[in-house]
Amino acid sequence: MKQLEAVIFDLDGVITDSAHFHYLAWKQLAADIDIEIDEAFNETLKGISRMDSLDLILAKGGREKDFTLEQKEELAAKKNAHYVELLKDLSAADILPGIKPLLAAIRAANLKIALASVSKNAPMVLAALGLTDSFDYLADAAKITHSKPDPEIFLVAAAGLGVEPANAVGIEDAQAGVEAIKSAGMKAIGVGTGLVGTDELVSDTSKLTLAMIQKVFQI
Ligand code: BG6
Ligand code: MG
Repeated sequence: MKQLEAVIFDLDGVITDSAHFHYLAWKQLAADIDIEIDEAFNETLKGISRMDSLDLILAKGGREKDFTLEQKEELAAKKNAHYVELLKDLSAADILPGIKPLLAAIRAANLKIALASVSKNAPMVLAALGLTDSFDYLADAAKITHSKPDPEIFLVAAAGLGVEPANAVGIEDAQAGVEAIKSAGMKAIGVGTGLVGTDELVSDTSKLTLAMIQKVFQI
């Protein structure tokens, strides 16, 4: 029987504004290799794994053939070092509005909560926010072979909770993420502007409530 059993969250841009730090770190790395990226281009990187993002940036600069795999791994590591440096002061004060009460309401309703982030930094970010214990399951980005828009990470999150995908609702701020949720067979709530294919779209996280999630599930 169709019944809401779980809510599956993206991390960057949904739980905290780390999506902006990914952008700043990529912008700096890209500038180091004479490629300029702007916020519009960055939209295409949201929800995309580290190496896939690097490939998109190199392609944008027409430099996709200029680096060996080893050099690309060094570039990706350099981006990650910028990113981790930007996160050094991350704390519970950086949890986006409404998220903490939402997580508490979902748990109080006996629903399960999982994280579906393709970021390998996700466990560290959740720990810095003091939210690790709010999640029942974290899908392991290191074991994912396809980043969003492939549904893999959402399917792994649902399986980890022991829940049928059709009994879960996913929450995302990226177009690739919304497509991943829908391909996984879940209802999708988008956060932000310009996202297409959502079952519900809110302008920011303060508008997310359990009642709304329950309503979207019934669509
Ligand atoms: C996603 C972000 O959550 O994680 C992407 O939206 C990022 O911007 C990806 O590239 C991978 O993150 P990380 O921390 O493993 O480099
Ligand atoms: Mg995101």
